[in-house]
Amino acid sequence: MHRKRTAIFISGRGSNMRALIEAARAPDYPAMIALVLSNRPEAEGLAFAKAEGIPTAAVDHKIYAGRDEFEKSIEVLLDLHRIELICLAGFMRLLTPHFVRAWAQRLINIHPALLPAYRGLHTHERALADGVKIHGCTVHFVVPEMDEGPIIAQAAVGVHDDDTPETLAARVLVQEHLIYPAALALVACGRLHVSDNRTHIDGADQDFAPLQVPKID
Ligand code: GRF
Repeated sequence: MHRKRTAIFISGRGSNMRALIEAARAPDYPAMIALVLSNRPEAEGLAFAKAEGIPTAAVDHKIYAGRDEFEKSIEVLLDLHRIELICLAGFMRLLTPHFVRAWAQRLINIHPALLPAYRGLHTHERALADGVKIHGCTVHFVVPEMDEGPIIAQAAVGVHDDDTPETLAARVLVQEHLIYPAALALVACGRLHVSDNRTHIDGADQDFAPLQVPKID
C-alpha cells in the first residue's frame, strides 16, 4: 500500500496534528505524516512532531513581503518532501486562491463548527450567544472562500445549559480528534469523490467504515 505523503500545517497548540500523527502510526493507515509546517516558529505543536522524528519547518509569514512570497517558500518545502496531501490543523493564515486551486481536493481543513454555520473565528462563543442546542466540527476540502468547500465529515455535540466557550470547545475538540484522522484516511485511500459540492465514498455500501460518526453526548 502506498501511504500518501501528508503535510500538516499548524500555527499553535497542534492537538489535531497530534491526533493525525497518532493515527498514522498504524501501519495500515493510508497516509504518513511527512512534514509538519508552522507559520509561527514558537508553535507548541512543533516540539511534539520533532520528538516523533517527523521533519518540521517554520516558515515565519512575518518575514515575507506578501502571501505569494510566503507560499513560494512553502511550495519549495512541499516539493522537497514530495507532499501529496495537506491538512490544515489550526493554521491561522489564509492561503491564496492560486495555492488553494493548485492543491484542489488534496487540501483539507478542520473547523470548530457545523459548517455552513459559524464560519470564521470565535465559533463557540457565537454558538452559545445564539442559544443553539447542537454544535460541532467539520472537516472539509479547502476552496478559495474561507470555511467553505465540500464537507468530508462532521460530528455534533449537545450544548449543555452550563456550558462556557471553554467547556464547549473542549467537548468539540474531542470529536475533532476523532473525525480528522477518519477524514484524512478517506481522502488518502482515494475513495472519496466530489460532485456538485458533495463528497461521496466509493463503495460506501460495502464493508468500509473508517468514518465512525460519534454519538451526540
Ligand atoms: C481547532 O479547534 C481547529 O478546529 C481550529 O483551530 C483549533 C486548533 O487546535 N481550526 P489545535 O492546534 O489542533 O489544538
